[in-house]
Amino acid sequence: MHILEVQNLCKEFGSAKVLKGIDFNQEEGQVVSIIGSSGSGKTTLLRCITGLETADSGKITVGGHVTFDAAEKKKPSKAERRENQLCTGLVFQSFNLFPQYTVRKNVTLAKELLVREECKAKKRSRQETKAALAEIDESAEKIIASVGLSDKLENYPCELSGGQQQRVAIARALILSPKILCFDEPTSALDPEITGEVLAVIRKLAGEGRTMLIVTHEMGFAREVSNEVIFMHDGVIAERGTPVQVFDDPQNARLREFLSATLRA
Ligand SMILES: Nc1ncnc2c1ncn2[C@@H]1O[C@H](COP(=O)(O)OP(=O)(O)OP(=O)(O)O)[C@@H](O)[C@H]1O
Ligand SMILES: [Mg+2]
Repeated sequence: MHILEVQNLCKEFGSAKVLKGIDFNQEEGQVVSIIGSSGSGKTTLLRCITGLETADSGKITVGGHVTFDAAEKKKPSKAERRENQLCTGLVFQSFNLFPQYTVRKNVTLAKELLVREECKAKKRSRQETKAALAEIDESAEKIIASVGLSDKLENYPCELSGGQQQRVAIARALILSPKILCFDEPTSALDPEITGEVLAVIRKLAGEGRTMLIVTHEMGFAREVSNEVIFMHDGVIAERGTPVQVFDDPQNARLREFLSATLRA
């Protein structure tokens, strides 16, 4: 089943056409990596898919649910927008944790707000709300353990290494149970020796069958972990295929140039 369908997505910033008709589907449980040179539109594509940016035209469907349709005249309500955004999770290059909160609070905060609102809307008793919040705390502990940070629950982001902060960011995205977990260069702000610990967590998630869309410049990692690789160039998908097809038998001249430049670096 297609968990993600992106149809004819276009986005301009002023006169710059950044996405020029992006079309692709992703299967549930698969890992798709997006590679391409700087400025090719990778981040813009992820931001459109995760609802942080609004495309000018096109349609996005996540798990059979239309999260964006430029042809739809009726603007989504605030609640609909949030529901759409919750279909996907995004882990940023720069972690974006709340510095004033502990690891535990960073992970539970968004979920707590959602559950509090839901309890209020459904007129749940104080007791029921308390139980629902306790459940979040329990699942946060499990998720934080799964990224190897049980001993850092009560620490603040400034007390963590970059790799640890990024793992907290992954836990924070996971607790909201997104249908697709998206990453925008999750290791590019990290020292090379720390990169491995974040890649290990992503590798483990891939092994558990989690659907992920990963913008990365780690070509070795993309080759190892992906079911499919998409090469973007100048706002279009210039080539896509299995890692073997894309890395060992590239057809597109731009992709060949990109790969040889990357391998030289
Ligand atoms: N908010 C914005 N306003 C104006 N131009 C933008 C905006 N966001 C992106 N762009 C432009 O869109 C183009 C694509 O940017 P994008 O960040 O999507 O590229 P990228 O492939 O992620 O590059 P990189 O590998 O450097 O992260 C760039 O030319 C960029 O300057
Ligand atoms: Mg980018």
